[in-house]
Amino acid sequence: MKKVFAFCVLLAFAAMAFAGCGGNSGAPAAGSGEGSGGKLLRVGSAIDFAPFEFQDESNKEYQGFDMDLIRALAKDMGYEVEIQNIGFDGLIPAIQAKNIDIMISGVTINEERKERVLFSDPYYQAGLSMIVREDNQDIHKFQDLKGKKVAVQIGTTSSAEVHKLGGVEIKEFNTPPDCFMELKAGGVDAVVNDRPVNDYYITKSGATGVKALPDLLTAEDYGIAIHKDNKELQAKLNASLKKLKENGEYQKIYDKWFGGASK
Ligand code: ARG
Repeated sequence: MKKVFAFCVLLAFAAMAFAGCGGNSGAPAAGSGEGSGGKLLRVGSAIDFAPFEFQDESNKEYQGFDMDLIRALAKDMGYEVEIQNIGFDGLIPAIQAKNIDIMISGVTINEERKERVLFSDPYYQAGLSMIVREDNQDIHKFQDLKGKKVAVQIGTTSSAEVHKLGGVEIKEFNTPPDCFMELKAGGVDAVVNDRPVNDYYITKSGATGVKALPDLLTAEDYGIAIHKDNKELQAKLNASLKKLKENGEYQKIYDKWFGGASK
C-alpha cells in the first residue's frame, strides 16, 4: 500500500516537471546558438516616430518604414520577428541587458553609442530640423533658438545637439508627439526632431497651426543597433540589407513610405 502511494507521488512530480518544461520552451533567442527550428528575433522600437514606427489606429499593428524593413530583413535571414514597444531612452539598456536582440527605431549611428552597441551598415539618411508655430516670426535658423524654449525627445540626438547650442531652455519629453503637443499648447517656441519625422507630421498627419523650417542642424545616418557580443547577427543583417538593396525590395519599402527618389 505504502509503495503504491509513493509511486503515485513520484508520478505526480514527474507530470509536474514535464508540464513545467513545456511551459518554458520558447523559441531560442537570435544568435544564442541553442536549439534549431523557429528562430526568434527580438526587436525593440519606440513606436512613436511616424513614418518609421507608429501604431495603426484601427488594427493597432506596428507599422512604418522601419517595421517593414525589419520584417523583410528577418524573413530573409530566416527569423520570426517579435517587436516590443520600448521608450527610446530604454532601448540601448534593453539591448545591453539582452532583453532584446536588436533595435530599429530611427537610431542615429554615432561614436558615443558605438561604445555601447554594434551598428548595421547605414540604411537611411536623416538630420535634424525644427518645427515652430505658423505665426512665429523670429526663429529661422538653429542659432535663433538661443534664449527660447525648445522641446526634444529624451535620449535623442536632438536633445544632445540642442544642449550643445547653449543658452536654450530645453524641455525633454518621452515622445515626439508629446513635443508637438507642447508646441501647439504654447509651452515651447520650437520642437527639434528628425527631419523626415517633422516633415511627415506637417504633410501627412494633418497638423495645423505649425510649420517645418528648412534649416538643418546635422546629417545623420540611421542604423540597426545590436548587442556588442553579436558580431554574427551584425554580419547577417548587413548581408540581408545589401541583398534587399540589390533586389529592389528596399526601394519598394522606401517608395511606400516616402514616395519618389531613394537615397
Ligand atoms: N535619430 C534620433 C536619435 O537616434 C532620434 C530617434 C528617435 N526614434 C524614435 N523612435 N523615437 O537619437
